[in-house]
Amino acid sequence: MEKKYVLALDQGTTSSRAILFNRQGEIVDQAQKEFNQIFLNPGWVEHNANEIWSSILAVIAEVLSTTGVSPKEVASIGITNQRETTIVWDKETGRPIYHAIVWQSRQTSKICDELKSQGYNDTFRDKTGLLIDAYFSGTKVKWILDHVDGAREKADEGKLLFGTVDTWLIWKLSGGKAHVTDYTNASRTLMYNIYDLKWDEELLDILTVPESMLPEVKPSSEVYAETVSYHFFGEEVPIAGVAGDQQSALFGQACYEKGMAKNTYGTGCFMLMNTGTTAVKSDHGLLTTIAWGLDGKVEYALEGSIFVAGSAIQWLRDGLRMLKSAAASEQYALSVKSSDGVYVVPAFVGLGTPYWDSDVRGAIFGLTRGTEKEHFVRATLESLAYQTKDVLNAMAQDSGIEVKTLRVDGGAVANNFLMQFQSDMLDVPVQRPTVQETTALGAAYLAGLAVGFWKDRDEIKQNWKIDQTFEASMSSEDRDKLYDGWKKAVEAATVFKP
Ligand code: G3P
Repeated sequence: MEKKYVLALDQGTTSSRAILFNRQGEIVDQAQKEFNQIFLNPGWVEHNANEIWSSILAVIAEVLSTTGVSPKEVASIGITNQRETTIVWDKETGRPIYHAIVWQSRQTSKICDELKSQGYNDTFRDKTGLLIDAYFSGTKVKWILDHVDGAREKADEGKLLFGTVDTWLIWKLSGGKAHVTDYTNASRTLMYNIYDLKWDEELLDILTVPESMLPEVKPSSEVYAETVSYHFFGEEVPIAGVAGDQQSALFGQACYEKGMAKNTYGTGCFMLMNTGTTAVKSDHGLLTTIAWGLDGKVEYALEGSIFVAGSAIQWLRDGLRMLKSAAASEQYALSVKSSDGVYVVPAFVGLGTPYWDSDVRGAIFGLTRGTEKEHFVRATLESLAYQTKDVLNAMAQDSGIEVKTLRVDGGAVANNFLMQFQSDMLDVPVQRPTVQETTALGAAYLAGLAVGFWKDRDEIKQNWKIDQTFEASMSSEDRDKLYDGWKKAVEAATVFKP
């Protein structure tokens, strides 16, 4: 049967999706399933790894059955995933020994404080391009080994495996045959040396993580394994592309040249700038990370990580019950002329780039008797744009490159108010592509390249098309005044540490 499609599995923080792409990089159909968020303690976020797995099986089944596409027509599978989220499982039984500890979870803050006080900041930064923060996987693995009964002994005996979500899914899909990850996911663990391209012995010693638990690290585009037929409707389909979701979006946005940048508005908001084969070190709170390993080489990116973006809109909808749907936020925001001096700092799990402050919590400033829901909603949307401006400023300072246009993707880019305000705040054109599922698209491209479904990046570049460009139209006085207010709000928020 002719191979007509590539299947991307996008395992995100709040849902799993399966998207079928055709040769033009267009979406043929998709299926999505949400799963439970587990909050055992304040600041902790966990998932049930088996539920993640079953949600992936469910969306694969749904997309194939609703489209009637035969698994025989699927050339390959690409996987993209919420990064850093940590799973440890028993090699023999295949059972996770603890929940998946999610990237947002702060339960290892204490471990991080200890490491920092022991003076390890530079050691980790110089080797991994990251900072010591509860965000990354390394301290999460240590936490599991320290807190689950008998885990450390088992790990020392080589009976446990660690993986980020990509590794877990490949292991499951391949029937336990492949224990692998790719460069992009490894580069988020705090255990991988992004210059020497290997798990770093010194860092593993500091974190007390045995190397036997760690997956083999591979390029982002190659055949890692095949699906066992009982998990894929009788077919053995190559799993041939893997990238962490943010790197995958950079790839799907065709940001293949140095200086090209994208911003993804998902649960959080992550801006990545391609820096080519040079790993640029940051002095302004950005992360140096691997963009992908492809065509025999590794390329790097600078990253600004914002922990709360789309989840702030979700909070308006589900927590405060101010909105019926996330989409309704646009009408509320447009119904007022401004946020009337209100600032929302959505530091629900601390602040990432450029502040890196785990202890700060969310805050609201500028309320008056005249403040209405509309102002509040608008101020929350504006906070996404202000945080992005913080990141863009840091990027310009670290790389010396001025971003000329920003490519955007993720759920919130459907919000025209936000996109216009974003462009106004950055004073840079914001380009929204026709295919906005660029995270999944990136993984599909990587998987398609590995099996010859697409020839090369030049062919892929032709598929990238603009849906709408938002041009800045705000005066520089207004921009500066608004941004100045944001800086003051963040400064004030960081003073209050409950
Ligand atoms: O680093 C965390 C990131 O990979 C999560 O992405 O799309 O779930 O916000 P998202």
